Amino acid sequence: MNRQKFLISEEVESKITDLMNKMTLEEKIGQLNQAGPSLVGGFDVPFGIALGMMLDGKMSKEEFEEKMSNAKEEFREDEVRAGRIGSFLGASGAEKINRIQKIAVEESRLGIPLIMGYDTIHGQRTVFPIPLAESCTWDKKLFKESGRIAATEAAANGIHWVFAPMIDIARDARWGRIAESPGEDTYLASVYAKAKIEGFQGEDLSASDSVIACPKHFVAYGGAQGGRDYNTVDISYQTLHEVYLPPFKTAVEAGAGSIMPAFNDIGGVPCTVNKYLLDDVLRKEYGFKGFTVSDANAIAECVNHGVAADKSEAAEKALKAGIDMDMNSNSYIENLELLLQKESISMDQIDESVRRILRLKYAKGLFDNPYISNENIEKETILRKEYVDKAREIAKKSIVLLKNNGVLPINKESKIALVGELANNAGEMLGTWSLDGKEEDCVTILEGLKAVSKNVKFEKCCSVEGEVDVIKAKEVTNDADVIIAVVGELKTMSGEAASRSDITLPGKQEELLKILVETGKPVIAVLINGRPLAIPWVAENVHAVVEAWQLGIQAGNAIADVLFGDYNPSGKLTTTFPATTGQCPAYYNHPTTGRPGGNFKFTSRYLDAPLEPVYCFGHGLSYTTYEYSNLRIENLNDKIKVSVNIKNTGDMAGEETVQLYIRDIVASRIRPIKELKAFEKVWLEAGESKEVILNVKINELGFYDEKLNYIVENGEFKLWVGSNSKEGLEGSFTI
Ligand code: NOJ
Repeated sequence: MNRQKFLISEEVESKITDLMNKMTLEEKIGQLNQAGPSLVGGFDVPFGIALGMMLDGKMSKEEFEEKMSNAKEEFREDEVRAGRIGSFLGASGAEKINRIQKIAVEESRLGIPLIMGYDTIHGQRTVFPIPLAESCTWDKKLFKESGRIAATEAAANGIHWVFAPMIDIARDARWGRIAESPGEDTYLASVYAKAKIEGFQGEDLSASDSVIACPKHFVAYGGAQGGRDYNTVDISYQTLHEVYLPPFKTAVEAGAGSIMPAFNDIGGVPCTVNKYLLDDVLRKEYGFKGFTVSDANAIAECVNHGVAADKSEAAEKALKAGIDMDMNSNSYIENLELLLQKESISMDQIDESVRRILRLKYAKGLFDNPYISNENIEKETILRKEYVDKAREIAKKSIVLLKNNGVLPINKESKIALVGELANNAGEMLGTWSLDGKEEDCVTILEGLKAVSKNVKFEKCCSVEGEVDVIKAKEVTNDADVIIAVVGELKTMSGEAASRSDITLPGKQEELLKILVETGKPVIAVLINGRPLAIPWVAENVHAVVEAWQLGIQAGNAIADVLFGDYNPSGKLTTTFPATTGQCPAYYNHPTTGRPGGNFKFTSRYLDAPLEPVYCFGHGLSYTTYEYSNLRIENLNDKIKVSVNIKNTGDMAGEETVQLYIRDIVASRIRPIKELKAFEKVWLEAGESKEVILNVKINELGFYDEKLNYIVENGEFKLWVGSNSKEGLEGSFTI
């Protein structure tokens, strides 16, 4: 069912027509104009530059915050009054949003409410794990629940619309924005997309705790060459349709009210001016009825791309391609009127975009309820106990146990030496894009462990980018039974504009681990990072490796839950962990080559690195073991029904994610060596067995032919069911 239908109502369309009949051209163009609140005063350099200085460590956070508190957020009130701004981005806070909304509603000629958009990426004030981490839960119920909580808090802050979910397929760990994505797999990203849209938008978009979702970045932003952010993307149209587009199709079907095109180009045409993508695919093929908003400044950047001579031409191309709202480049407000006079664009084109935006303002209920009726709701809503509990639950389920030689779980009586800067740093737990997240809300790893054990001794010994203090390392580990080393990346090392050309552990942290391993005591590495890291030495030599990502406000408690065995880890990787940076892009579902890699000269391999990743997609251990048996495959004409028995053969209850992969053996186009097609989570008490049934629809076994027609070819398929993308029971079927 395509839920876009909820956006079409004759009654609303006729209200929009009446309103538009009263609007001047300037007011119409104003609706297409999104501005950011400008920060005035406080800084001696422009705000953007000051922010960059702070992020690069050239200005301390304290100094930045002090300057920021002296600056005034200015909403360009006169322009709102004149109807020249239809939306703001980046404002949070009921009181201030009510204030500017009042000007739009009561002091502008037609009283059209503003729509306020915000980057609520992994929670608003209750910060959840970064999306890459949360995706490792493989749990659509949790995806939806955290989306719902984020929506409720954001809405209480006066926000109507969130720039999320980010559903870019991310196959290249160098790309910093992999942190914001649900990983490398199309099927999983589609499950995630649907759950997030449902969570954000709720049952009723006009409800006071619902927000409009904005799936982004449409499309293939994750394909940036070299993993370098904002770089060009050059992929086939088949890959586009098979790998990158499906999560967006799902998001549209789930009723997403808006879409944000990506910064990059496809085939030399920036997504911002790409009529094929924005019109043929999004609107005509997928039936999208909402509105599109450009990414920040992206219309103007078409000049840098070299597809427009100036902002005017960029505005013309973007509007004609189907960009309805200009995010803060002023290209529309400065140029559309003149372009219309010159007949370079038509009134119908402007009207169509205005209509789409007004449609969502109606659907959100802004004409009836433009304000946050009770400003206290903010205080009552944020960080409710049940939200914080949910943050802990999601965080512990996001943790992936990569390796365990038996040292985990830790006995609660053990003497623990805890080292590493990230073990005692609250703010770093928030990860990228946590605009309203606060350091003081976060539980550090040190605090989390101390809440359970009285025997924790902490010494930093090495910061992420600093030197190893060998003496301190020896001192603190001297009488310890077990060593926990928290190593990884700072939160500024992933996210937007944070690509790395070397994805090993930064600084001297591996050296620290070597010194710790040399003590002969059991060493547990807890990784805090926003991307897969290339850590072959760690995987080989450290006794246990726990991937803890950036887990949000409850990081410390969640990590303690797993390390002490109060929670049996169940997370599964959603991205491949390559052995070296040179393997990037590394992803499990790659096509076959004519010379698959082996130990021979003329095969597809490296002279100086292995072919295999260190940890594969879907990998994740538990404190118990699961045994798969009795694979049965039935072809029911419209679907393949697969049943398998699974038994918890260890002595601890746990949750396993049963994964089903297929491979089309011979086809008219090369097919991936494996493709995830279904998964199911199953809870098993110690010793318990269950039957799990997974279904794969036959029409989901196809691909795009040379002419971009979707086809399903008859023939033999291999199938695997197991606990990761490498191992599993094998079977086959024919269609
Ligand atoms: C640029 C980012 O690419 C996008 O994801 C974000 O939503 C906008 N800036 C607004 O902050």
